[in-house]
Amino acid sequence: MTPRIGFLGAGRVGTTLALGWRRVGRDVRAAWSRSGRKISDVECLPAPQDVLDACDVVFVTVADAAVESTASAVTWSDRHLAVHCAGALDLDVLEAARRAGAKVASLHPLQTFADPDTTLTTLRGAAFTIEGDDESAALLSTLASDLGGRSLRLPAGHRALYHASAQYVGAFLTTLLRESAFLWRALGVSERDALAALVPLAVGTLRSAEAVGPVGALAGPLARGDAPTVERHLAALPEAHLDLYRALSLRALELARERGLQDDVAARLFALLESP
Ligand SMILES: NC(=O)c1ccc[n+]([C@@H]2O[C@H](COP(=O)([O-])OP(=O)(O)OC[C@H]3O[C@@H](n4cnc5c(N)ncnc54)[C@H](OP(=O)(O)O)[C@@H]3O)[C@@H](O)[C@H]2O)c1
Repeated sequence: MTPRIGFLGAGRVGTTLALGWRRVGRDVRAAWSRSGRKISDVECLPAPQDVLDACDVVFVTVADAAVESTASAVTWSDRHLAVHCAGALDLDVLEAARRAGAKVASLHPLQTFADPDTTLTTLRGAAFTIEGDDESAALLSTLASDLGGRSLRLPAGHRALYHASAQYVGAFLTTLLRESAFLWRALGVSERDALAALVPLAVGTLRSAEAVGPVGALAGPLARGDAPTVERHLAALPEAHLDLYRALSLRALELARERGLQDDVAARLFALLESP
């Protein structure tokens, strides 16, 4: 049977998944959102229970802090599959659904959600991390592949660590781009123009790391053991940026050593980066 899909929460994730599945012909039946926000072409119902009454597979796509209370405020039955999309939450937040006989699962798209059209492009090739019993996982895996994603199953009980790891290449990468573009202000270059120059560098770096791994892809003065250049960087950077530069350089130095940087050269760089 084709599942009737519904959403509690019409934020970035609910809206994007609903539109994506609708575009590939899935039966996205209904959605509810606290503020009455609509997802185009999807029937917006006045109460969360209305969505459960109309649907079989219900995605609880509200903010993480509201997943448990939202799922607990409705009446589930054994024909439902309750799914959350939070990377850091275990399945126990859907305990109310499970107790009422519903199946429970999670589907976490390992991607940054921007506007729906952009995200539906970047979801192609993205990993969708799935937790749940085999039958639910098989359905969610099909839904992930509908959007061009590939499914990934992780052992239960490590969600927070998994989600923390994703921060490095999600939010932290964005933060690093901002940090870099900010420094270009001193060169008289706007953030927009700086990003036009920096994003291709970031994309090239990622492509290279994808091809040869992070150790093989490491480039720049630390990879080369070029202490004078690092010294010039430290002298040029504003005080407020030094801590992060030093901390990241020390991590990068570990990669440089794995690449074969000589011990004495690494020690000189280490001393330079450690000294206040
Ligand atoms: N953003 C990402 O990149 C991303 C990626 C993967 C997974 N996720 C996960 O996807 C889920 C949804 O995130 P999102 O990015 O779509 O968030 P979002 O854009 O901030 O939307 C969250 C929605 O939750 C609703 N909400 C907040 N508190 C509520 C409450 N107490 N009761 C009812 N509704 C409430 C808001 O409703 P109103 O607008 O109606 O007020 C809003 O529509 C989260 O579990 C998140 O961890 C996010």
